[in-house]
Amino acid sequence: MNDSKFDFDSPPNRVGKSSLKWGKYEGSDVIPLWVADMDFKSPPSVLEQAMDSSEHGNFGYGRPPAQLIDRILERSEKLYNWRIDPSWIVWLPGMVCALNVTCRSLLDQSSQAIIQTPIYPPFLSASKNFDLPLTKIPLLLKNNRFTIDFQALENLSTKPGDLFMLCHPHNPVGTLFNESELRDLIEWLVQRELYLCSDEIHCDLILEKELRHLPPASLDERISGKSITLMAPSKTFNIAGFGCSFAIISEPALRARFKKAMRGIVPDPPAMGFLLADAAYDGGEPWRLELIDYLIANRDLAMSRLSKMFGLVPYSPEATYLLWIDARSLPVQNPHLYFEENGVGLSDGKEFDAPGFLRLNLGCSRKLLVEALDRMQVACDKL
Ligand SMILES: Cc1ncc(COP(=O)(O)O)c(C=O)c1O
Repeated sequence: MNDSKFDFDSPPNRVGKSSLKWGKYEGSDVIPLWVADMDFKSPPSVLEQAMDSSEHGNFGYGRPPAQLIDRILERSEKLYNWRIDPSWIVWLPGMVCALNVTCRSLLDQSSQAIIQTPIYPPFLSASKNFDLPLTKIPLLLKNNRFTIDFQALENLSTKPGDLFMLCHPHNPVGTLFNESELRDLIEWLVQRELYLCSDEIHCDLILEKELRHLPPASLDERISGKSITLMAPSKTFNIAGFGCSFAIISEPALRARFKKAMRGIVPDPPAMGFLLADAAYDGGEPWRLELIDYLIANRDLAMSRLSKMFGLVPYSPEATYLLWIDARSLPVQNPHLYFEENGVGLSDGKEFDAPGFLRLNLGCSRKLLVEALDRMQVACDKL
């Protein structure tokens, strides 16, 4: 018996709806499984709020509702065992913006941003946007799971005030760093007197039931004061189009620096963003839990199919709805283009600093996923 309350099998048709994901291939027969947004309708609580707001009919400037802040505090304590203070929250219209503000506020020509590759492209460009130095440390593949290369970190030359930018869970490889990895990382950061920016936008999409998200800033006071933690309901509840994100910065001087770098150029989130975020955190939990089950089934299906395809090595994500694939053994010049020509639009690993790899977005109906996997199978069988 199917006792699901929410219909993930029949997402709305996004063609002609100004969708970035679907617009890319409009008019051609390519299934879009690229940019990280899901095809599903948002939770009913979010849809009701959106309808309420549109009936109300006023779209003026917004400010965060007090109950949204209370919900964030409650959630943080319940889900991550992290007590935060309302004064630590800095609102932002997006996470990419936050990554850039972080670099702008903390770095100068003599310091460096350190990132782990492959990585979500804005990590590669944030420091570069301000002509600031960037150091890339490749993730280490151990037992089919990407992890932190501590040996490489030990060998790295750093100076106090450098910035480590963590993507946790990590897009595109889907690793949720565990307590032991995080504690080792914190030790390294503290010894070297580095700052930490932790992008945790995917932290409520954990696909392994026994795993739990841990913000590094919650684990050790020595790093909390040096941390900028970034969170948002946008990925989890599919409301990225209404930009409402926040940074959590406990240390007043660090927060002041961050706010100074925002001054005059970073707008507040829109009123609708605040209201939908509030509705998502308030009523979206049953939907989120069912979504996770749906994504787990999509992931398991995709893993079982992809691992049998000639030339592909898929990596099972512990978190996120993104699945990373090594296609370097495929005897084609450009795997991304090859699959596009065969009707499947994936993300190109080149953009994540990993040419020859692909990223598949699992946030779609099972039917569409199966159709895409069938096309990929045919494409691989031809080689
Ligand atoms: C790790 C990570 N950070 C940030 C973003 C984008 O956030 P925003 O749309 O709020 O700028 C994404 C989107 O895919 C992401 O995966």
